[in-house]
Amino acid sequence: MPLPRKNIEKLIPYQPGKPIGELRRQLKIRKIIKLASNENPLGPSPKSKQAIKKALSEINRYPEGSCFYLRRGLSRKLKLKPDMLVFGNGSDELIDIIIKTFVEEGENIVTADITFLEYQIIARTLGREVIEVGLRNFRYDLKSMLRVINRKTKVIFIANPNNPTGTYVTARELNEFIKKVPRRVLVVLDEAYDIFVDAADFPRSMNYLKARGNVIILKTFSKAFGLAGLRIGYAIGPERLISYMERVRPPFNVNLLAQVASAAALEDKDYIKKTRQSIIEGRKYICSQLVKLGLAFLPSVANFILIDVARDGKELYKEMLKYGLIVRDMQQYGLSNFIRVTVGSRTENRKFIRVLSQILIK
Ligand SMILES: Cc1ncc(COP(=O)(O)O)c(C=O)c1O
Repeated sequence: MPLPRKNIEKLIPYQPGKPIGELRRQLKIRKIIKLASNENPLGPSPKSKQAIKKALSEINRYPEGSCFYLRRGLSRKLKLKPDMLVFGNGSDELIDIIIKTFVEEGENIVTADITFLEYQIIARTLGREVIEVGLRNFRYDLKSMLRVINRKTKVIFIANPNNPTGTYVTARELNEFIKKVPRRVLVVLDEAYDIFVDAADFPRSMNYLKARGNVIILKTFSKAFGLAGLRIGYAIGPERLISYMERVRPPFNVNLLAQVASAAALEDKDYIKKTRQSIIEGRKYICSQLVKLGLAFLPSVANFILIDVARDGKELYKEMLKYGLIVRDMQQYGLSNFIRVTVGSRTENRKFIRVLSQILIK
């Protein structure tokens, strides 16, 4: 039997939120609510759906590798040169491309211990070392991260806001940090959830693009833009760094429907505004109810909330499944008394609180 590379056997695969179809097959109930993967509860933008319908008759053709129209639309919107953008099959793929492009064998990446797991899974898959720095009060500890940077450090990943905590690093903290990171080290700011932030001291990451030439920003269409199922994200960075990533990017990595749907979603200001309002309102509602239930949780600026359920989170997760509700247990992070819940629609949020209260009083 052929053996995999040495590091592959030790890998723990990424565990995604349970798909609705899977639970439906298991429970044989129709109405299932998924609050496990931070998706947009409003459905896709009508403009995306229209664009997909129009493009359906063209799917016998390969997509444009350069994402021409999307690139043009996005560069105009962001007021950036088109060559400062590179697109990926989800931002997941861009994390992979970044590590393949910049991290040599024997070099390492630095990130937090409780953060988006793909940074470390992809680095380890590629046989690269990972230095994990503990959170401080559930927030990225940038000072400690500076201290662990060594000669072999090549990339630092910062999820801002962080998943699964929903906390963020402030503009002031990030300014201080970026000033002190050596220029030969790439700082990746993963802003998958930035649209949901309503904090005045959240960093304006675009300001870092020019300043030192070692910052790349990651964005996704999976969350606020409602296109998780199509898989598309992008990176913004200095042209030179982006051009290196373009050499590594597979030729047709972003499919044709994802390209037209995301270009259309970008233009749907009403949809984005509605999404943002709905999440901010839902977040407030869930938090106020958690206070009433006497549960501790982390103040979140994202579209999910990390809750200390003061009991085994995995058991609670399983119990919720019986009610047709999918949340996320946090065992893979070693947070055994926590669950993470995505902010859903108004009805979904109410159902979540109802089920949670019922289970807690049992
Ligand atoms: C912080 C963060 N970055 C990146 C991603 C990946 O998003 P996608 O690959 O769907 O663009 C996620 C998804 O959950 C995330 O939480």
